[in-house]
Amino acid sequence: LFQSVELAPRDPILGLNEQFNADTRAHKVNLGVGVYYDDNGKIPLLSAVHQAEVARVEAAAARGYLPIEGIAGYNKGAQELVLGKNSPLVAAGRVLTMQALGGTGALKIGADFIKQLVPGAKVAISNPSWENHRALFERAGFEVINYPYYDPATHGLDFQGMLNALRALPAKSVVVLHACCHNPTGVDLTNEQWREVAKVIKDTNLIPFLDIAYQGFGDGLEQDASAVRLFAELDMTMFISSSFSKSFSLYGERVGALTIVTGSQDESNRVLSQVKRVIRTNYSNPPTHGGTIVSTVLNTPKLFALWDQELAGMRERIRLMRRQLVEKLAQNGVKEDFSFVMKQRGMFSYSGLTAAQVDRLRDEHAIYAVSSGRICVAALNSHNIDVVAKAMANVMKT
Ligand code: LMR
Repeated sequence: LFQSVELAPRDPILGLNEQFNADTRAHKVNLGVGVYYDDNGKIPLLSAVHQAEVARVEAAAARGYLPIEGIAGYNKGAQELVLGKNSPLVAAGRVLTMQALGGTGALKIGADFIKQLVPGAKVAISNPSWENHRALFERAGFEVINYPYYDPATHGLDFQGMLNALRALPAKSVVVLHACCHNPTGVDLTNEQWREVAKVIKDTNLIPFLDIAYQGFGDGLEQDASAVRLFAELDMTMFISSSFSKSFSLYGERVGALTIVTGSQDESNRVLSQVKRVIRTNYSNPPTHGGTIVSTVLNTPKLFALWDQELAGMRERIRLMRRQLVEKLAQNGVKEDFSFVMKQRGMFSYSGLTAAQVDRLRDEHAIYAVSSGRICVAALNSHNIDVVAKAMANVMKT
């Protein structure tokens, strides 16, 4: 049976963790996976999360099956984060939110449902995009194409290229957009640019799929939702995948949500019935623990405020690391202007390092990054930043 099975390549991101874990060098640094570490290099347990978890354990609640679509309070909280508390679309019964197994799980449920609705649709992702976008939509049976996004010459956005490509897509193509903190480049659209993109998507009758995995890591929870709110204002039907892995520092709990904006209450009822079938046939219903914690934080004003504050702390520390990296690269003799790193938002920096330089960072300095040159700035800290800046300067110079 398995004789003809070929060895698959390592996952470009999670595979790095495997390599990193197997590396015995004590000074190793993992800038690969998108995980926030504190200044001591530890994944934090947020106080808001801890308090909700203690309450959960003390309640000693039974763990029956959740509804297929998950915890109602969780879904309401997730919906309000992306669309706001007073969304007219929610009031009109046009929004559905389903607890999902992380942002990836939300994308997959959405992808499987779209495949059912528009089997021949093409899926357009940014060039470059999160490595798993292409793989996930291809595995769901779609042809995946790129639209221009990053301009290496400016370390910014190829906005005209992006608009032209979107205009040329056939109607009912799916367009995957990073609502904030673009992964891997850290390059985001301005509100004005979002407005234009949303208009093209509407006029061309495309299907927007907004992926928001880093809400709170750009400018703040509300500010980072502005692209989603803009699509909502234009009254567009859309898919939104959200992740709480990073914002709650609950990576292993697989806490995400899929939100769908439909055309009417009646459509919502029918769509929900179908998406529930997708969920039921994939994993039946979501797990309780992480979802309960997130739901408690989102629905308890005191804990919500604490969480928001902790999120701001993470965001500010990343900003500090960006600034220090730029300064330290210059101090180590790097002539190229790296100030673009400070303009990028979220956890990542598309550093401009080549795949060969990334290999050297790993082999010679025990520093791991994604072969595209993406580094996770959120893994830098006051103890490793000097070593990283020196090593980066070294592989760039020689
Ligand atoms: C990343 O891009 O590193 C994260 O989103 C983790 C993942 O699942 O790839």
